[in-house]
Amino acid sequence: MPNAIIFGATSGIGKTLANFLVEDGYKVAITGRRLPLLDAMKKKSPSNFSIYENDVQNIEQTEAVFNRIVTDFETIDLVIHSSGVGYENPSLEWGNEHDTIKTNVVGAMRIYDLVFHLFKKQKFGHLVAISSIASLRGNRSAPAYFASKAFQVNYLESLYFKTKEVKGGRLYITDVRPGFIDTKMALGDGIFWMTPLQKASRQIYNAIKRKKRRVYISKRWNLIAWVLKIVPSWLIKKVM
Ligand SMILES: NC(=O)c1ccc[n+]([C@@H]2O[C@H](COP(=O)([O-])OP(=O)(O)OC[C@H]3O[C@@H](n4cnc5c(N)ncnc54)[C@H](OP(=O)(O)O)[C@@H]3O)[C@@H](O)[C@H]2O)c1
Repeated sequence: MPNAIIFGATSGIGKTLANFLVEDGYKVAITGRRLPLLDAMKKKSPSNFSIYENDVQNIEQTEAVFNRIVTDFETIDLVIHSSGVGYENPSLEWGNEHDTIKTNVVGAMRIYDLVFHLFKKQKFGHLVAISSIASLRGNRSAPAYFASKAFQVNYLESLYFKTKEVKGGRLYITDVRPGFIDTKMALGDGIFWMTPLQKASRQIYNAIKRKKRRVYISKRWNLIAWVLKIVPSWLIKKVM
């Protein structure tokens, strides 16, 4: 039975992927702050799910939880990092900006590092992180969120480069960059090209199984990514 950990399994993408993994026979450590939601998931699949309450902003707790899961499971095949927050914050209110950085940058990086060290030791493992199309450019309504996603993408690329340090190892890094997926995270009004959660999660899961290096979700966001990479800043400033 393969073993997986999901950070941010209480709702949205993380929860949906957790259920797909169980269907495929994985034993899954599910984490998040909202314990009752983890309890409800475990009730449905008691032998597949193990619960570990965790706030990724609490670095000491995250380290302890990660080490406890590794001790309990012995080896880990797959880690999915889906924890994240995002706020519309055009007034740059510090509380929201700080919360975003503590979760999406500091918390995420600590998890990426813990996972990388473990996989290096094991000589195998697959890290999947849910970043965002937001990683590609700045944004005046949610600056910290967009910047935090750029951080994630660049850090993940660094870890991808570092996999070559593990000679003969089977280490994989998958960077998942969604557009809009129908969860409470989808920021803003009048959202276009919103992908239903099940459909998006299925596409993500297929990319995980194929060990893709990076993937835009849904597929049509490849087009937006292409445009975002070439459009000049002055034009974005004018129209958005
Ligand atoms: N939905 C979209 O349109 C979209 C687009 C691009 C990227 N994404 C990314 O996809 C990822 C998953 O988001 P989602 O759409 O599935 O939204 P979601 O349903 O709100 O899920 C967010 C998850 O993050 C966890 N989380 C938040 N803060 C945490 C903390 N301090 N400690 C531990 N866990 C924490 C939440 O668990 P608890 O609250 O229980 O702790 C929850 O499980 C995020 O990284 C998001 O940025 C989403």
